[in-house]
Amino acid sequence: MPLLLKWKIALLLCLLLLIEGLQAGEPILPLPRSHHQPAPKVALGRRLFHDPRLSGNGSLSCASCHVLERGGDDNRPLPVAASSPYPHNTLTVFNVRFNFRYHWYGDIAGLREQAQRALRQDMKAKWPQLVARLEKDRNYAKQFAALYPDGIQRQNVLDALVAFELSLITPDSPFDRYLRGETEAMTPLQRQGYDRFKSYGCAACHQGVNIGGNLYQKLGVFRDFIDDDPGRFAVTDREQDRFVFRVPSLRNVAVTAPYFHHGKVPTLEKAVAIMGEYQLGIQLPKDDIEAIVAFLHALTGNYRGRSLEDK
Ligand code: HEC
Ligand code: HEC
Repeated sequence: MPLLLKWKIALLLCLLLLIEGLQAGEPILPLPRSHHQPAPKVALGRRLFHDPRLSGNGSLSCASCHVLERGGDDNRPLPVAASSPYPHNTLTVFNVRFNFRYHWYGDIAGLREQAQRALRQDMKAKWPQLVARLEKDRNYAKQFAALYPDGIQRQNVLDALVAFELSLITPDSPFDRYLRGETEAMTPLQRQGYDRFKSYGCAACHQGVNIGGNLYQKLGVFRDFIDDDPGRFAVTDREQDRFVFRVPSLRNVAVTAPYFHHGKVPTLEKAVAIMGEYQLGIQLPKDDIEAIVAFLHALTGNYRGRSLEDK
C-alpha cells in the first residue's frame, strides 16, 4: 500500500475514534490542580534546575533554556548551545508528566533518562565533577542528607530533578475552567475556536490531558512538508517513520513561540494555517484561523498561582 494512503487511512481512523470520543464527552481533559510531589524534594529539584554548577563549564543551567517565568522554553528558534546533529526547538518543561515519550522524536522513554541526556549533551556535565561541586555547598549537603541516606549521588540528583519536573503543572487556564463548567471563562470567539478545533479534526492529533504529547504523527499527511529533518526515521531507521514526530502539546502554546521542530514558524496564525494545509488538506478560512488562535490563547495556565500570560 502506498505510504500516503496508509497515512490517510490512519488519519481517518483517528477521526472516527475522535467522533466516538466526542459522543462520550470532550476529547480533552483539564489538568489536575495538584501535583502531589513532596515539598522538600521539589525545593531541592528547583535549586538544581536553576544551578549552572550542573554544567561542565559552569555557565548553563536547565533554566537557561527552560525559562519558568515564561512558557518553560527559551522563545528562540533553536537553543544557543545546541549540539545535536538535528538541533530542535526547545520543548517546554511544563506539564511534561503528561507526555507519553519525550523529545520531538519521542525516542526517550522516561524523565530520568531525559535528564541524564540533557546533563550530558546540552550541559556537558561530568558526574564526579558535578558531585564534588555540590558537596562543597553546605546547604546542598543538608538538603540531600534530609532526603537521601546516601547523600549527594548521581541517582539522587536525578531523582530530585525529576520530582521537580513532575511538579511543573499549569492548571486553571480559561479552557480548563470552561471544561469544569465555567462557560464564561472563555470568550465567545474562543468557544467558537474550540468548536472549529474539534470539527476540523485538530483534536484527532492534539488531544488528551496535554492536548498532544500522546501520539506519533507524520508532518505532511496531505502534502509533503519540505524539510531536511527526517523525523523519527533518524532514530528508528524505519521508512514509515520518515517525517513522523511526537505530536506536541498545545498547552501554553501562546507563550512558547516560535513553533515547529525547527522553530521556523514565528506565529500561531502561521502554525494553524500550515496545520490546515498539511495535516488536514484544507485551506482554513481567515475567520476560522482567528477563532482557533483565540482558543489557543485560552490554553495558557497558571504556574504557582500566576498566569504565564502575565509574565
Ligand atoms: C541548551 C538548552 C537546553 C538546556 C541547558 C536543557 N534543555 Fe531541555 N530541552 C532542550 C531542547 C532543545 C529540547 C528538545 C530536544 C529534542 O526534542 O530534540 C529539550 C527537551 C527537554 C524535555 C522534554 C520535553 C518533552 O515534552 O519531551 C525535558 C523534560 C527537558 N528538556 C528537561 C531539561 C532538564 C531537566 C535540563 C537540565 C538538566 C534541561 N532540559 C536542559 C534544550 C535544553
Ligand atoms: C495528523 C495529525 C495532526 C493534525 C490533524 C493537526 N496537527 Fe498540529 N501538529 C501535529 C504535528 C505532528 C506537529 C509537529 C510539527 C513539527 O514537526 O514541528 C503539530 C504542530 C502543531 C502546532 C505547533 C506547536 C509547537 O509547539 O510548535 C500547532 C499550534 C498545531 N499543531 C495546531 C494544530 C491545529 C490548530 C490543528 C487543526 C487545524 C492541528 N494542529 C491539526 C499533528 C497534527
